[in-house]
Amino acid sequence: MVTYTDSLKGIIAEQLTGFFVGWPNPPSPDVHLRMLQGSYHVWLALDGERVVGFVSAISDGVLSAFIPTIEVLPDYQGQGIGSELMRRMLGSLSSLYSIDVICDEDVQPFYERLGMRPYSGMTHRNYDNQSGGGH
Ligand SMILES: CC(C)(COP(=O)(O)OP(=O)(O)OC[C@H]1O[C@@H](n2cnc3c(N)ncnc32)[C@H](O)[C@@H]1OP(=O)(O)O)[C@@H](O)C(=O)NCCC(=O)NCCS
Repeated sequence: MVTYTDSLKGIIAEQLTGFFVGWPNPPSPDVHLRMLQGSYHVWLALDGERVVGFVSAISDGVLSAFIPTIEVLPDYQGQGIGSELMRRMLGSLSSLYSIDVICDEDVQPFYERLGMRPYSGMTHRNYDNQSGGGH
């Protein structure tokens, strides 16, 4: 049974394997844990001890939040876990004004079903730092 938590208490890097599928230069589980610890808010989906999905948000805590990462492990996709993580995160951020996500066009329907809408934006990437090795 999958359970949900927004606490990182007791979570260790070894529980965070298998994420960043397809990334050429993925963050290690240790770096992943630091990303979660540095976030404004997180929600995790757990199957027993194993983290099978996560969503993280960074924020100024007043107006704006950005959701840089959401992922469900491949074997657990298509079961509603990603939607539940996003619903919980949007609920946790509901006192803020703007909540933004950058995504490929093919994933837009996933967010639209949760009440989000397409927008335009700009971005810059330091690809050498994709694994988090810059810090
Ligand atoms: C996107 C993601 C988080 C969705 O999680 P999930 O647990 O599979 O999503 P759900 O089971 O809640 O799916 C809800 C609906 O969205 C749809 N959906 C899920 N992923 C989709 C995608 N990549 N593109 C289009 N639709 C998608 C599903 O078909 C489902 O619709 P259905 O109920 O009619 O079948 C997951 O597919 C994932 O981790 N993908 C790889 C990482 C990624 O792309 N992250 C998003 C970066 S912006």
